[in-house]
Amino acid sequence: MSRGNILIEKPEFDIAAPHAASLVESLRAFSYELPTALADLVDNSITAGAKNIWLDFHWDGENSVIAVTDDGVGMTEEQLVAAMRPGSQNPLKPRAPNDLGRFGLGLKTASFSQCRRVTVRSIVRSGKSSTRCWNLDHIARVNEWQLLRAGDAAAEPHFSRLAELTRGTAVVWQNIDRLVAGQRTESEREQQLFLQRADAVRRHLAMVFHQLMAGKQGVKLHLNERPVEAWDPFLADEAATQILPVTPLTLHGAIVEVQPFVLPHHSKLAKPKHESAAGPRGWNAHQGFYVYRNRRLLVPGDWLGFGWAKEEHYKLARIRVEVPNALDHDWAIDVTKSRALPPPALRDDLRRIGERTRSDAKRVYSHRGAKLTPKADADRVLLWEPTAKHDKMFYRLNRQHPLLKQSLDATSNRSAFNALLRLIEETVPFPHIAIENSEKPNSLPGPFENAAESQIREVMEQAFNSLVASGYGPKEAVNRLRTIWPFELFPALLQTLSESHSYA
Ligand SMILES: Nc1ncnc2c1ncn2[C@@H]1O[C@H](COP(=O)(O)OP(=O)(O)OP(=O)(O)O)[C@@H](O)[C@H]1O
Ligand SMILES: [Mg+2]
Repeated sequence: MSRGNILIEKPEFDIAAPHAASLVESLRAFSYELPTALADLVDNSITAGAKNIWLDFHWDGENSVIAVTDDGVGMTEEQLVAAMRPGSQNPLKPRAPNDLGRFGLGLKTASFSQCRRVTVRSIVRSGKSSTRCWNLDHIARVNEWQLLRAGDAAAEPHFSRLAELTRGTAVVWQNIDRLVAGQRTESEREQQLFLQRADAVRRHLAMVFHQLMAGKQGVKLHLNERPVEAWDPFLADEAATQILPVTPLTLHGAIVEVQPFVLPHHSKLAKPKHESAAGPRGWNAHQGFYVYRNRRLLVPGDWLGFGWAKEEHYKLARIRVEVPNALDHDWAIDVTKSRALPPPALRDDLRRIGERTRSDAKRVYSHRGAKLTPKADADRVLLWEPTAKHDKMFYRLNRQHPLLKQSLDATSNRSAFNALLRLIEETVPFPHIAIENSEKPNSLPGPFENAAESQIREVMEQAFNSLVASGYGPKEAVNRLRTIWPFELFPALLQTLSESHSYA
């Protein structure tokens, strides 16, 4: 624009820098929960090469503190200032293959999501220690991104663990308003809740970092002085787990590994194992794909939008998916590291693998059910035979069953024996069984479940003898045994019996 001879240049832009006081409050709104926020700090420690990470929950009502200390490489003062800056790295920048970060935000957003004051101290190998603190109340007052060079005195005791290390980093959260605002130190109930939150964090970390914690070289996590034990969703060390082959899928030259596991039927697992395998959210919730990024779990069981409901009979299906961080964008990884969406190019393959695993899992789940209530068919001899009586189900003892028949024939008081059989038939404890089954669906045992092999063999031998006594040759008797429920469940014992009689 010219006015007379004077040229006034109008700039082509306005500077619209965010207001520190309001933006910092918005940065608190990422969808973290306490466990996912702490997992984000643990990510940083692992990326920094930590061998040990200590999480300490210190209860003091509204002055409670959570500290995360690691023995990783630490940061110089310059690096610490850079690390504290929101957006410390460009998400487009390629990362080392074992880097668990992406956005340059996690340390800040995870901390702000839970507390109003975060102080970070880091020591590098030279022994030099640096400290910086974001205090949201201070930012609100001055409306500037003033990164404080010191924390407050109350934070000091929580750096004592770091003081004993030659290098490492500690992140101390104070004023944890999302967790303990207005709480009183002396309230036992509130203290109890605080400790329960710590337990939930323990379960979450045990799950998210189980691969990175595995083995002698694995990172060690400690929460309030107690080691965090890894939780392996795949029960790979259980003999009855079906481990299916790995399918490598390629995208933009990077490989995504997919490996289905079908977990054992509950009857094949010891009770404590079955309970722990359920996972933090329970058996049903933990079915589906487990998406890992650089061996760190993002999604703990989900059918990834394929439209499959999480149903009881698919609960044994758990599928491991390993995604390298080069594909972060394709999988729509978010800042909180708790979401991943499969790229369209891989959906067909994942669907196919998912369908097959679900049907395998369903077979294992219901096979055992089928064994509990075998189908009555012409070739199978059952001791209990279902019949309808006055429109009601009635279970009759099959008097042609070889063992029963032989006993009936051998008894000297047939009418007393028949009276006993009738009484047994009339007093089957249906109500107890029905209640038990509805309260604890998996608690009814299958035939000879938990019985010693010698006991099964004894009953089998008796049945064999009854058959021989009624005129069967040894070979036919073994074949007949196969049709008498439930001996078909023990093929190895039948085989031994058959061999011992063919050499006799
Ligand atoms: N415990 C730590 N030890 C050493 N360096 C750390 C530690 N925590 C954070 N840093 C440094 O601070 C930087 C910023 O961390 P921040 O979590 O904010 O982002 P990021 O890890 O790069 O990405 P993301 O937002 O995906 O977590 C890291 O890239 C790392 O260089
Ligand atoms: Mg991070």
